[in-house]
Amino acid sequence: MTYKAAIIGCGRIGCSFDDDPKRKYISTHAGAYTKVIDTKLVALVDKDEKLLNKYKKKFNVSSIYTNYVKMLKQIKPDIISICTWDNTHYEITKKAVENNVKAIFCEKPIASKLKDAKEMIKICNKNKVVLMIDHQRRFCKFHQTVKKMIDKGKLGEIQQVSFYYTAGIANSGSHMFDLLRFFFGDVDWVSATKSKNLSPNKNDPNFDGMMEFKNGIFCTIQACDVNKFLVFDMDIIGSNSRFKLTHSGFDYEYDIVKDSHQFSGYKELYTSEKKPIDKKIIRQPMLDGVKHLVNCLKNNEKPISSGEDGLRSLELICAFHESAKKDNKKINLPLKTTSIEIKSR
Ligand SMILES: NC(=O)c1ccc[n+]([C@@H]2O[C@H](COP(=O)([O-])OP(=O)(O)OC[C@H]3O[C@@H](n4cnc5c(N)ncnc54)[C@H](O)[C@@H]3O)[C@@H](O)[C@H]2O)c1
Repeated sequence: MTYKAAIIGCGRIGCSFDDDPKRKYISTHAGAYTKVIDTKLVALVDKDEKLLNKYKKKFNVSSIYTNYVKMLKQIKPDIISICTWDNTHYEITKKAVENNVKAIFCEKPIASKLKDAKEMIKICNKNKVVLMIDHQRRFCKFHQTVKKMIDKGKLGEIQQVSFYYTAGIANSGSHMFDLLRFFFGDVDWVSATKSKNLSPNKNDPNFDGMMEFKNGIFCTIQACDVNKFLVFDMDIIGSNSRFKLTHSGFDYEYDIVKDSHQFSGYKELYTSEKKPIDKKIIRQPMLDGVKHLVNCLKNNEKPISSGEDGLRSLELICAFHESAKKDNKKINLPLKTTSIEIKSR
């Protein structure tokens, strides 16, 4: 069966990242639906007609709309991608479910309020609609291999984790929290303060902070200034090695413990000659994301990046806000209540 797919929001992640000649793999929803053999991209929706005409041509799409409800009624897509900003995700999900879509591939953060995210999950579950959130490193074979290494104890016992990010706690932070949860599980508590390294978006601040996972692993979170350079690096120190995710988390460095070259009786970390993950492992998260969504539809399975995972990531964003508002007060998870409404744009 070929699934009819439609995209709502034809901006960067919807369509235009693939115009960047430096990007060597498919980086948009439109590119992925066009490439995967089980899906056909049948409609694009955006308020901007110039974008619609440009990408209709580029991706060879038959129908374009400025109104997504009209598209849902006329095209009746099986799958929709929600590639608009977070404050629209709830409303679009509701209308898509009312119009019988089978699957929703929703951009991160899942929503701007916890209440909306919970409602999105509820209506999708009730109507047996697959809801998948685009925390795309979960779909990537490279990150799945890193997770397996951690789970199998290849790094030894985890001693400490640090994360460096830029560009806002709701924006890049949403990916950061999701990747940390993917590797280390649910979080017990957080504590945070506003960072002196400002976010480019005054509505979406940078926070520095710390948190502890339910399994006892401790993690520091540190923000940097995106105007200096982009960083999205995780540093994991195990009992026998150190694994650093670099270059937006798509590359790595690996050090192992050896007898110290400079102090008798001590051990230190040294760059390993052996690479535990093939540097050429294919990194194509958007493509693998759409393939995964198709498999979930065919086999009636829950996605590896579910609505609940999206909700937990949003909850951590809100918990960082709550803690910083209360002078780095320790905030326990799950959050009981919050009035935080994030603005990742
Ligand atoms: N997963 C990732 O790696 C990743 C990367 C970039 C952006 N994002 C997320 O994707 C979402 C969009 O980000 P972007 O950078 O592509 O934004 P963008 O501004 O480039 O594109 C959004 C598009 O949506 C359109 N739009 C907004 N409301 C609409 C509506 N009601 N009907 C039709 N069209 C509408 C706008 O006209 C715009 O073209 C955000 O939630 C962002 O956080 C995710």
